[in-house]
Amino acid sequence: MSADTPGAEDLQAEARSLAAAVLAALSAAAGTAELTAARAGLFGKGSPLAGLRRRLGSLPPADRPAAGRALSGALAEVEERYESRLAELRASERRGLLEAERLDLTELREPPPPGRLHVITQTQRRLEDVFCAMGYTVAEGPEIETEWHNFGALNFPPGHPARDMYDTLYVDHGAPGSTLLRTHTSPVQVRVMQGQSPPLFVVAPGRCYRQDTADATHMPVFHQIEGLVIDEDITLGDLAGAIETFTTAYFGPGFTSRLRPSYFPFTEPSAEFDVQRPDGTWLELGGCGMVHPSVLEVCGVDPERWSGFAFGFGIDRLAMLRYGIDDLRDLWTNDVRFLEQF
Ligand code: PHE
Repeated sequence: MSADTPGAEDLQAEARSLAAAVLAALSAAAGTAELTAARAGLFGKGSPLAGLRRRLGSLPPADRPAAGRALSGALAEVEERYESRLAELRASERRGLLEAERLDLTELREPPPPGRLHVITQTQRRLEDVFCAMGYTVAEGPEIETEWHNFGALNFPPGHPARDMYDTLYVDHGAPGSTLLRTHTSPVQVRVMQGQSPPLFVVAPGRCYRQDTADATHMPVFHQIEGLVIDEDITLGDLAGAIETFTTAYFGPGFTSRLRPSYFPFTEPSAEFDVQRPDGTWLELGGCGMVHPSVLEVCGVDPERWSGFAFGFGIDRLAMLRYGIDDLRDLWTNDVRFLEQF
């Protein structure tokens, strides 16, 4: 064997050092793209490592098997290392991608903050509780009413000046002027008397509408609670007693009430009722009176046998007073920072 013809040992040594270089290059590849791009040059057909295989033929035949095995072993090792490095890089690239695209869902684990009843609803429910404890039941009526229930049956004939007390919003439905948004809860008196027989002890809370410009103490939508009592021998004294019982039950022991003469077409006599605070100041709360005999009659209640009283007042005003709210508009803006105080 001449000096310039490589022997089996040289070829094997060369294969080992080439394989070591390829293995180092595989480990150094930083990503799958770099790795696959380098593949052909490192150990593909035209690579130096594959080139060694062609030189096997120049070895003496006796040396060839051992050198061939060494060369195949080196190629197989490199191939195997390539596959495992590729799997390794793929896995780490996938982890990186998942991490980068991760959504933070931890917020969803927190339950949303609990809601609460609106301060007007709370006030309405408290009023219902107070009246239920006094033996009344709760009734409801529609917010879109007929002119007859809101006015006619309550003794306001068409063109009656008392209608001017109410800035009525009419609804474009049926004959002109026949349908409206109720201006008070008094039409529920009519519906209750028509639907049930006395004795009646009923309160009816709900929304009312008037054509008012919104300001600190007025809203075109507001809430009233109506009271209606019909029984035998009901007198003005019973009305005053009921108002007084309610006043102490709702406001507390230091509060008293009084009635002042007033006018409503559907009660006779009629009165305004005021509540006196412990500091002696008066608060105007609402209207009341003995149910007018012609209202009883029109609703199918015999005025010879039955008599009764009715009252009605604003719930929003009451809430303002109780919670120290000074602008009604705050109740409608739905700003939780305001509403969650109550
Ligand atoms: N409905 C009247 C109003 O809103 C109040 C009232 C109710 C008066 C019951 C008397 C009896 O002005």
